[in-house]
Amino acid sequence: MKWPLHGSNPQYLYQSMGIPLPDHYIDFSANINPLGPPLSLKEKWGQAFELINDYPDPKAYKFSLKAAEKEGLPMNWILPGNGGSELIALIARMIAGKRVLIVQPAFSEYEEACKANGCQIGYHVLEEGKWELKSDSLIQKLDHYDALFLCNPNNPTGKSFSRSAISHVLEESSTRNCFVIIDEAFYDFTEEVHSFASYIPIYPNLMILRSMTKMYSIPGIRLGYVIARPPVLEKMASFQPHWSVNAIALMAGEECLKAVEHEQNTRQYIGKQRSRLVKFFQEKGYEVSNSSVNFYLLRDPNHIDQLPLIQFLLENGIVPRHTYHFPGLEGSWIRLAIKRKKENDRLMEVLAKWRTVQ
Ligand SMILES: Cc1ncc(COP(=O)(O)O)c(C=O)c1O
Repeated sequence: MKWPLHGSNPQYLYQSMGIPLPDHYIDFSANINPLGPPLSLKEKWGQAFELINDYPDPKAYKFSLKAAEKEGLPMNWILPGNGGSELIALIARMIAGKRVLIVQPAFSEYEEACKANGCQIGYHVLEEGKWELKSDSLIQKLDHYDALFLCNPNNPTGKSFSRSAISHVLEESSTRNCFVIIDEAFYDFTEEVHSFASYIPIYPNLMILRSMTKMYSIPGIRLGYVIARPPVLEKMASFQPHWSVNAIALMAGEECLKAVEHEQNTRQYIGKQRSRLVKFFQEKGYEVSNSSVNFYLLRDPNHIDQLPLIQFLLENGIVPRHTYHFPGLEGSWIRLAIKRKKENDRLMEVLAKWRTVQ
């Protein structure tokens, strides 16, 4: 079976499974804010048209300034990119041919991009079910690597790693000249927001990756940024195509970074939905990951491979994210996004039905 590499665009998952795409479906495979983009962005949208007959600012001055203010760091510590994915590709280009350790399971683009740049890849696979980061066992491997990718909160489990474990890893990697890339694409969905960006002044080997896609629900626009020391960013920028971030994305990004209330409402909404979903799953005998964000892993413990459940969900218009490409999961879980109440209700209805046909 040829599985799609990412969530979203459900037609490809239906195609892989040989199931006709239904007229109505709910896509739980992409982890995007269910409340949508901030309202203020919609109100500004008319101005986007005016931006298309000139080149975008290649220095992305206004957006970078706003991002720097938000991060409490200087502006030249920010490098915007055409989505987090472009920035991952630039990081991989910068460390081409090096030895890269990835804490797994994790977003697949780290490996894809590093492999495309001739890196040697190693895994540190977390224990299934707990997915805890045990710093001692990870640190033992650091001597053999030049860079480490860590996704926190983690995609696909939704778990946030312990602060002390990450601090320990940062301390040890800095003495070994090992780059640490922490992907914080989902850090703003947690109740207790905690970023490691403030550690960059202490650890020059640290890079933080931010995607604007998830919280602000703008995956179609493509915008993200990396926070790191200027020499690191200068190197990365030297591989980036000129005008890589378009003018509409820069305008939208500036607007989104002001939307503090939208972020708070989102965290509250997600927190409430997550609690009621988890309660339901436990009552119905499903296993679920201890997520702190807007998605989670789920499995029916009666099946080692979740393929029958995936098929049933798709036939009932529910689109899950398969996990066949995630080392350490290999199809034994599915990932589901937290969506609006009505959509989550429908998911629970279908999962309750699955119990009756089993
Ligand atoms: C953990 C993580 N990092 C980065 C990205 C890249 O996001 P984007 O390129 O949309 O900014 C994704 C997208 O799914 C992701 O899950």
